[in-house]
Amino acid sequence: MYTLGIESTAHTFGVGISDDEKIIANERDTLKPASGGIIPREAAQHHFKFAPEILKRALDKSGLKLKDIDLFAFSQGPGIIPSLKVGAQLSTFLSKKYNKKLIGVNHCIAHLEIARLYTKLNDPVMLYVSGGNTQIITYYNGTYIVFGETQDIGVGNLIDKIGRRLNIPFPAGPKIEELARKSRHYIEMPYSIKGMDVSFSGIETFISRLIGKEKIEDISFSLQETIFSMLIEASERAMSYCLKDSLVITGGVAANKRLNEMGEKMCKDRNASFKAIPMEFAGDNGAMIAYTGYLMRDYMQKDLAIKPRFRTDTVEIKYR
Ligand code: ATP
Ligand code: FE2
Repeated sequence: MYTLGIESTAHTFGVGISDDEKIIANERDTLKPASGGIIPREAAQHHFKFAPEILKRALDKSGLKLKDIDLFAFSQGPGIIPSLKVGAQLSTFLSKKYNKKLIGVNHCIAHLEIARLYTKLNDPVMLYVSGGNTQIITYYNGTYIVFGETQDIGVGNLIDKIGRRLNIPFPAGPKIEELARKSRHYIEMPYSIKGMDVSFSGIETFISRLIGKEKIEDISFSLQETIFSMLIEASERAMSYCLKDSLVITGGVAANKRLNEMGEKMCKDRNASFKAIPMEFAGDNGAMIAYTGYLMRDYMQKDLAIKPRFRTDTVEIKYR
């Protein structure tokens, strides 16, 4: 069964195609503003502009025509309204035109499912780390339960905000990672973890006072060591509490090698399994929407409206 998935929740417009459980195309373009953060209207304009080209590239890659697609899927939320609308409208149009079923997918669950697909870890604790989200999740009795989460901002947003202060354009993650590799000098930073919840606002304030006084490499290194330690500590606690013997890291920040290294080490120490996901599937992508749509192919969905505040733990998981 060929499923075409459209991702457009935030800064990225992506189209992925799956053939049953196999990903056969994954094309995207990400809005990278010259300065400042993402403006919702500009993100939507970006998606409108790139949609035809990305759709064509994905179809060419798969060797399929639109009439060959059996199922359409789109990212229903969470996300920013103008961006979400682009994917919703395009997928609704295509499903009507070709008279095929349309499935609305929760973006966060798509990050989790693509990670399970590529790691082959069936029932892990999942550390979902992206721009807007920082959650520790596990599956229980038909739902993805959030065990811990950030009490303020997402870890990716923290990295991007600090990046802006350091004149690093969005998304700052890869550049901060590169700078961090050049330092071994640790500056102690606020470490805030309560149970399985984490908080990052103290670090943001702390770092704002260091800028100009400490080397940018040392700030990047210390930032990564501190926030990733918090995330891995909270994940370990969740694994211990839920008696799970594997960990998966997913979402845009899962592209970070140091975070994966720390996850791998923690798992090794407690005889648990860890496998990093391919970088291509860490950040927002259409393939994860196609694949999750495929998993949900038998769902009867009445509500296909966009859901800007769609929560992971409100979705009933019937395919597991
Ligand atoms: P969500 O709706 O899931 O929160 P999102 O809009 O944040 O998604 P993603 O593509 O999942 O989008 O994540 C983007 C984030 O990942 C950005 O904050 C970016 O800085 C961060 N990121 C990307 N690569 C790296 C990296 N190598 N190290 C750390 N962070 C990274
Ligand atoms: Fe995402």
